[in-house]
Amino acid sequence: MAVETCEYELVPYRGFTLIKGIHDPDDVDQIQDLEIRDSDVFVVTYPKSGTIWMQQILLLLEAKGDLAAISRLNTLSSSFNADLIPWIELNGSRQAFITAPSPRTRVTHLQHQFMPSALSQKKGKVIYVARNPKDILVSYFYFHKLAKMLETPKDFDDFFEKFMRGDVFGCSWFEHVKTWYSHKDDMNMLFITYEEMIQDLHSAVQRIAVFLEKELNPEQLANVVKHSTFNNMNKIPNANYQHVPEYMFSHHEGTFMRKGKSLYGGRCR
Ligand code: A3P
Repeated sequence: MAVETCEYELVPYRGFTLIKGIHDPDDVDQIQDLEIRDSDVFVVTYPKSGTIWMQQILLLLEAKGDLAAISRLNTLSSSFNADLIPWIELNGSRQAFITAPSPRTRVTHLQHQFMPSALSQKKGKVIYVARNPKDILVSYFYFHKLAKMLETPKDFDDFFEKFMRGDVFGCSWFEHVKTWYSHKDDMNMLFITYEEMIQDLHSAVQRIAVFLEKELNPEQLANVVKHSTFNNMNKIPNANYQHVPEYMFSHHEGTFMRKGKSLYGGRCR
């Protein structure tokens, strides 16, 4: 039966906030014990840092730039890229991860302390995408208007205060980036910024491909870049969340992919 209401609640949990009904604290607690295969990949982001962008790039790298192959996968088993590269912290996702065939690629907003401890023994790979917090703040503000599971902000000033305190879904941006960055050398991690991707997507995709040991010829690589630009992704419903049901997103408030710009650059001024 289709769910038609959206009454989620933020639940503070071990320095993070989970969303009741979407995350189960007991399940999230057990993520750290997961056995990790060398081929596993985790994309880690603070919200609004380009998660769906990285999902699109990784799917395209796997498909050697063949967009139609991803569309076929979407038709066969799901309707969104996010179902092909799911969130590890969602209800039921941990169990599915255990039995999934390799390669297993997952995304997460979780803080470092929740993640599989095997990652710190250099098993698997982690791609951390960081974005300038000023751009995140604006993107997150509009996302709160769109997403029905999050409280609609009173106004921008109020949201700014909450963001600075880390009183939003997830945790403080500052803590998230600092903690993950401080563990960068413990794991096989590619630390990349949204701004680097904006500035030179081709080089960024090349770095990601090398990190993931994916061998693509120049034409295939060019296709990955082509199908992951903002304008092209914005035309692909599987990639841009335009078909998320109305009970989850107030589509009249705007779109998930808003501007896709880096207004404040790669350095925090
Ligand atoms: P804006 O709201 O600034 O437009 P996440 O997936 O982590 O929630 O991040 C969403 C942000 O990434 C949105 O930022 C979205 O537009 C941006 N984004 C997604 N795909 C992009 C692309 N191909 N190029 C640039 N930005 C992209």
